Amino acid sequence: MHRVALAGPADFSGWRDAARRLARQGVDPADVAWMVDGEADLFGALDPPIATLPEGPAFAVPRGFLELAETAILHVDPERFALLYRMLCRLKTDHDALEDRVDPLVTRLGRLAKAVYRDIHKMHAFVRFRSVATEAGECFVAWFEPEHHIVEAAAPFFVRRFASMRWSILTPERCAHWDGSVLRFSDGVDRGAAPDEDKLEALWCDYYAAIFNPARLKPQAMRSEMPKKYWRNLPEASLIDSLIRSAATRSAEMVQHAPSAPNRSPQRGRAAPAPTAPAGSLEALRLEAADCRRCPLFADATQTVFGEGPADAAIVFVGEQPGDQEDLAGRPFVGPAGQVFDVALQEAGIDRGAVYVTNAVKHFKFVPRGRRRLHQKPNMGEIKACRWWLEQELVLLRPRLVVALGVTALTGLRGTAAPLASVRGQALTLADGTPLIATVHPSFLLRLPDEKEKAREAARFLEDLRRVAALAKAA
Ligand code: URA
Repeated sequence: MHRVALAGPADFSGWRDAARRLARQGVDPADVAWMVDGEADLFGALDPPIATLPEGPAFAVPRGFLELAETAILHVDPERFALLYRMLCRLKTDHDALEDRVDPLVTRLGRLAKAVYRDIHKMHAFVRFRSVATEAGECFVAWFEPEHHIVEAAAPFFVRRFASMRWSILTPERCAHWDGSVLRFSDGVDRGAAPDEDKLEALWCDYYAAIFNPARLKPQAMRSEMPKKYWRNLPEASLIDSLIRSAATRSAEMVQHAPSAPNRSPQRGRAAPAPTAPAGSLEALRLEAADCRRCPLFADATQTVFGEGPADAAIVFVGEQPGDQEDLAGRPFVGPAGQVFDVALQEAGIDRGAVYVTNAVKHFKFVPRGRRRLHQKPNMGEIKACRWWLEQELVLLRPRLVVALGVTALTGLRGTAAPLASVRGQALTLADGTPLIATVHPSFLLRLPDEKEKAREAARFLEDLRRVAALAKAA
């Protein structure tokens, strides 16, 4: 039996190095015991030390596996190291094993990764800082209780978002600290170490009560997006029950006082009432994305065109970026490509109202030509910057199937570029195990000059969509 002592519960590099060495030597998964920290000491000396095993012949694994492993390893499931090692051994002889979506090991690992992504998202959404006066000046401190070992993985988000503040996020297992230039981690602490009250809290509660929109109240959705266990660390949570109770009266008042003029589409510079949505919901993400400045494309576009469709959609379609008409309307796929898409969906028996449609890049990229705005392909930097939104949409939607329409969508979904022809129609998976199908973008059909070829390609596209419909039903 080989016993591997990992440095901590989230020690991905320790697992990777040991797993690589063991797998190269062909060590059977049943002959490896994975242990964390002091656990190994209970069993005396390790036999034989992994580092002394000779290096066996190298083999390649799909890139998606490393991404999956890096995420799934953060799960609290004590079997995660062993499960990942079993998968690695399988990939040694079957390079495409991860693509078997119905395989129990592949599904289980996908579920672990999904739970971790979701926990990271919850941490991003539900951490609330409180101001604390220290000798070195003002510092912001938050208490959070993650389900999985995610503090290190979640912390860079807070560095980006609160770069100029000094802050600490305290959790029972690990703490993250940012002093304005260096991110450090320390051991976990008890809840008592986190401050309970401060002046910001009262202000935050006033703000929350003011932006709470009773007409959009969906208590069920609020509870599922903001589970009760997080409430005790959210100052605004104490208001929720009373706001829910008064929602019916307040929305009746809002209707009475509603303006009679129709709403106009959003325009820059116009003061609008602050919209609101339950933290951690798709709507909250959409509102956040409305102010996106993650790449320069926001500067010339009219608005962010966020995805649309039901939050429980089984299928998510991802396009490239909004076109001229989408940019003006603020909705995806409403222009010429959208019409081709709608017809094909209908022929394939897919109800557009039941699916979620979004884009890899959420601002229109164009060059002006007289009065026209000519579409420009987004570059890798823009696609990567916008993955920020796409990934969060997928975490919240948890679809049964994702469809990449064209190569930009595929790049946005996988983070790396690959020719569409090499993967079209194949059963692919995202890093978290969600099934992925790639097909052409509907505008490809619009651009084909030859009518015969156009008809041939339209039939192929329809065939892909029919397959999508069948897979979504089976999943
Ligand atoms: N093309 C896309 O990729 N997305 C849209 O929303 C419209 C056209």
